[in-house]
Amino acid sequence: MTPTVEVFDDLEALSFAGARLVAASARDAVSAWGRFTWVLSGGRTPRRLYEYVAQGLGGTVPWPFVHLLWGDERIVPPTDPGSNYRMADETLVRKVAIPAVNVHRVPAEMRPPDAAARAYEASLRELTGDAPAFDLVLLGLGADGHTASLFPGSTALEETARWVVPSNAPEGVTPRRRLSLTLPALNLARRVVFLVSGAEKARAVKAILGGAPPGAPLPAARVKPVGQVFWLLDRLAAGAL
Ligand code: 6PG
Repeated sequence: MTPTVEVFDDLEALSFAGARLVAASARDAVSAWGRFTWVLSGGRTPRRLYEYVAQGLGGTVPWPFVHLLWGDERIVPPTDPGSNYRMADETLVRKVAIPAVNVHRVPAEMRPPDAAARAYEASLRELTGDAPAFDLVLLGLGADGHTASLFPGSTALEETARWVVPSNAPEGVTPRRRLSLTLPALNLARRVVFLVSGAEKARAVKAILGGAPPGAPLPAARVKPVGQVFWLLDRLAAGAL
């Protein structure tokens, strides 16, 4: 399915459009099959989108029927500034009337990390069954083309069976140790939305959307779900297209 690409003036406009898409997807899913499973992204970019969704500015969301999951997590406590859960909790989770049992936090404090990955995978499989597993997967994009915590050249990127595995970010990227959904899991999405802002992402966006260069496709280019793919970009991220 050809991806839908939309470009917005700035992060504010990008975030508002993303919030509207999430809210509409939630209403559609709940009216069609009684619930909405939303896989959240980490990083900085989605903060404003989460705030818009929490304020209902993107449209109403049937929170009692929403399930929140995470596409990846850093192996830090949930109170750590680097925690993706903490960021989503501050901007969204604590502000909306979602049942606590519907918030499926990654147990990143569990040791060893492989046990945490297997525990999270079991909880996902229990919640969703088989394909298509997730109604909406929100993803970011790194300047190196990574998404979730699937980095170029990582063994996590090449996983073909498990839904969740431990993963390491490259040297110098902190927090380095992570847990990530794999391509088989991400590709079980009815709808994938990439939310990308900033000039530092333009080369990766061009490589993915502007006609792939020779060589191995970037990790984000390998997300090919059963459903629709949306690329929501600001002008800086779309600058090389
Ligand atoms: C994470 C994210 C990661 C992020 C990109 C972009 O845990 O960091 O899952 O994939 O989306 O690195 O991050 P920014 O939005 O901060 O640029």
